[in-house]
Amino acid sequence: MSKITLERVKTLLKREEQRYTKDHPKSKQLYEKAKKNYVSGVPMSWMRIWSGGFPIFVEKAAGVYITDVDGHEYLDLCLGDTGGLCGHANPHIVEAVHEQMLNRGTTTMLPTAECIQVGQELERRFKLPSWQILMSASDANRFALKAAREFTGRRLVLAMNATYHGSVDETLCFKLGDMLIHYPGMMGPIMKDPSETTRMVEFNDLSALEDELKTGEIACVITEPAMTNVGIIKPEAGYLEGVRELTKKYSSLLLIDETHTMCAGPRGFTGAMDITPDIFVAGKFIAGGYPGAILGFSSEITEWLEKRIAWHNFFGFGGTLSGNAVAVAGIRAALEKVLNEETFAQMIELAQKMESGIAKIIKNYQLDWYVSRIGCRVEFRFTPQAPKSGGEALFNDAEYNEVDIIEEGLTGPIEALVHIYCANRGVLLTPIHEMALVGPTATEDDIYKYLSILEEMAKELTGKNVRSR
Ligand SMILES: Cc1ncc(COP(=O)(O)O)c(C=O)c1O
Repeated sequence: MSKITLERVKTLLKREEQRYTKDHPKSKQLYEKAKKNYVSGVPMSWMRIWSGGFPIFVEKAAGVYITDVDGHEYLDLCLGDTGGLCGHANPHIVEAVHEQMLNRGTTTMLPTAECIQVGQELERRFKLPSWQILMSASDANRFALKAAREFTGRRLVLAMNATYHGSVDETLCFKLGDMLIHYPGMMGPIMKDPSETTRMVEFNDLSALEDELKTGEIACVITEPAMTNVGIIKPEAGYLEGVRELTKKYSSLLLIDETHTMCAGPRGFTGAMDITPDIFVAGKFIAGGYPGAILGFSSEITEWLEKRIAWHNFFGFGGTLSGNAVAVAGIRAALEKVLNEETFAQMIELAQKMESGIAKIIKNYQLDWYVSRIGCRVEFRFTPQAPKSGGEALFNDAEYNEVDIIEEGLTGPIEALVHIYCANRGVLLTPIHEMALVGPTATEDDIYKYLSILEEMAKELTGKNVRSR
C-alpha cells in the first residue's frame, strides 16, 4: 500500500489553499462584504463549510454546471448536497414553478387541483396512502417523530449511530462507548442528556436493535435504508427486512428517510426492495430544488390522525408555507418529468463508470481507500474496506485524519485537500464528504474530467505515476 503521510497532505493543502485564494478574488471580496451582515459571512452557515476559507459566489447555475463570479466554470457533483438532483434550473421544474407562480401565486393557504396527481403518484411509488407536504426533510422528520410518539404513547426514538436526519434534536448525537453524546457544535438541545429522548444502535446490528425494541419504550426507529452521511454504508443481506420485521414484532413504527437514498432509483432504495415503512420521508430534491419535502403515513397512522385532528389542525406540525402550491407543482414536475426510470437509467450508467474509474485509481496507486455507489451517488473514503456501521466509519475517519473528534470535529485535512484540489480544477464535490452525484445532463466527458483530476491528485499524494485509463 502507498503510504500517504499527513505531512504530505498538509503541504499539498497549503499550496492548494493559496491557489484557491489567488484564483477567486471576487468571491473573496464578496465574502468579506457579506461578513458585515451575515453570521459567518453567508445567508446560511452551512455554506461556510467548503474548504478554502470562503465559498465561491455563484453567478450562474444550469444543469450540472456552475459558473462563479470570477468566471470559473465547475462541473457540479455536489448538486446542492442532493437538493439539485434534478439539475440546476431544470427546464421542466422552471416551467412548472413559473406557471404556478404566474397564474395562481405562491401561497394561498388553499390547495390546487395538482395535489391530486401528486398524491396518487406518491402512493404509486412509495406504497403509503396519505401524505403531507412540508418545507424541508428536517421538518418532515421532526413532525414524523412527534406523530410517532403520540401514536404509540411511547417516549423514545431509536436512530442509528452517527446518522444524520437534519436538524432533528433526537438524532443529533452519537455513541461513545455506552454513552450518548451530542455532536460537537450541536446548538441548544431540548434535553441536555440525549438519552432522555434517544437510543442508538449500530446500523447492520439486528440483535442490538432487538434488545432496544424489547424494552417496549421505542416509539419509532428512524433510519436511512443505507447510511449516506458517513460515507456510504450499505445494509447487509436481510438487514432491512429484519428491521421491518422487528419493528412490527415490538409495535414500534419504522420511519425510512430517503432524502439521500432516492439516488437509488425512482422508488428509492426501499421501494426497489419492496419494503414499506410506516412513515416515509424525503426532501431536498423532491420539488426539483424548490423547498419541499414529503411525509407519508400508513393507513393505521392516517386513520388515527384523522380522528386525532382537534379543532382545525394539529399544533406543533407544519407551518403557513408548508404544502404551498409551488412546492406541489415542483414535486409533480420532478417526479413525472425528471426522476423517472429513463433519467435514472442514464445517470446510473454514468455513475457506474465513475465508480469503476475510481476503483481503478485506488488499485493502481495502491491507496488504502474504498469506493462505493448507490444508484447515481458515488463516494470514496479513506479506509481499505467500507465500514459496516456509523460508529466504525466515524472512528476510522478520526484515526485517518489524526483528529480528536470532540475537539476538532468530524472532517480533517485529507477531506479538505480532496475538495479544494477538485475545486481548483473545476469540479465541486459535496463539502462534507467525498460524495459525487451524477445529475441528469452529465456526460461521459464530465465523468472522465473528474477521474483525471483524482488521478492527478493520487500521483501527487503517492509519488507514483501510473496511467489508469
Ligand atoms: C438523510 C437526511 N435526512 C434529512 C436531511 C435534512 O435535510 P434538510 O437539511 O434539507 O432539512 C438530511 C440532510 O442532509 C439528510 O442527509
